[in-house]
Amino acid sequence: MTCHLPKFSTGDGKSLSVGEGGLGLGPPREHPNGVFIPRNAPPFFNLFAMRHLFWDGRVQLDAQGQLHTPAGAQLSPAMMKVLEYGPVSALGMFPVTNRAEMRGAHGTDLGDVADNDFNGIWTAIMRRLGAVPEYRGLFEAAYPGTRFEDMTFAHASNAIGAFIVDRFSFANSPWDRFLAGNDGALSPRQMAGAQTFLTLKCSICHNGATFSDEDFHDVAVPQIGPGEGVLPNLLDDFGRMNVTGNPADIYRFRTSPLRNVELTGPYGHDGAAISLRFLYFYFTQRGDGHLQSLIASAVLMIVGFQVLVIGLLADVISANRKLLEDLLYRVRSLELPRNQDADAPPALAAKDRWGHP
Ligand code: HEC
Repeated sequence: MTCHLPKFSTGDGKSLSVGEGGLGLGPPREHPNGVFIPRNAPPFFNLFAMRHLFWDGRVQLDAQGQLHTPAGAQLSPAMMKVLEYGPVSALGMFPVTNRAEMRGAHGTDLGDVADNDFNGIWTAIMRRLGAVPEYRGLFEAAYPGTRFEDMTFAHASNAIGAFIVDRFSFANSPWDRFLAGNDGALSPRQMAGAQTFLTLKCSICHNGATFSDEDFHDVAVPQIGPGEGVLPNLLDDFGRMNVTGNPADIYRFRTSPLRNVELTGPYGHDGAAISLRFLYFYFTQRGDGHLQSLIASAVLMIVGFQVLVIGLLADVISANRKLLEDLLYRVRSLELPRNQDADAPPALAAKDRWGHP
């Protein structure tokens, strides 16, 4: 709950979250020693439809329907069977094992378990949960016929997955209604935005029901914060390469799903983009054309972009403010009804925190 708050649309409104040992909730939350979680807290919307979870996809359902997780064989076949909703059911198994996120330092029953002993950690949590008689009753009511003693943390994680699927899934946005054949579902502005989304080729990567191709790309989101602790300076984040070990995957991150994206900032794996306006600004509004092309070519040289992204940058950099507005209206068409006053301007400040228009 600390990092996924209803008030912040299942995130925490922070670029980088503050986990165990932090004080406060939402943007003011701080850690006395300045410890940040390396990545932005991702939103929960429509996760039932995602095959890859976490920014680097470390919980993943492969084409054969096999679930892969950082726990490897420690997640036994019996536990796998409990995970009814696929990857989203396994989601809850991992933040609890991470010291900075939830587990904490040595000196407690949880903190004293070795880092690679996933089962030891999960067993210790079940011991804590089982000490509360009310929880035992609730667990046994949720899984009729199974005694609490016979449950593992997979039962808890699966229940969290069920909650996420039940509460944070929707398929009744204007865009869904448009796809279902209702030609009038989108306002003219939203329709123009949808066309811009296609013209700018956003849809090459952001496509399908979740607006993610479930693939991994390097789109040069700048690194801020501690990253995933990559040597030599411990301030970098190699993204997907941390999972696959394949050097070709360096700096690649999962294409973010975009449902409710207007509400889920800051953006990017490290929250480097404070607002959608800034994210777009990053690609488009970098001063005069000369500077733009300089930066674009520098980025291309440093990162070694794929041809696809070169095309994208060239297109995006030539875009103007009208396109930004169209895009923001398009983004709105992916949202829940209460945010769908299509004529209201997108809910963005005239200037972002850094004074960018
Ligand atoms: C080459 C594939 C690709 C293309 C094309 C692309 N994106 Fe993305 N997008 C990504 C990836 C990958 C990320 C996550 C990057 C990261 O965080 O490091 C992302 C992140 C985002 C985010 C942040 C979402 C969040 O929850 O943090 C938004 C918003 C977004 N893209 C919008 C767009 C728009 C609008 C376009 C078209 C102008 C576009 N993208 C084009 C791959 C792409």
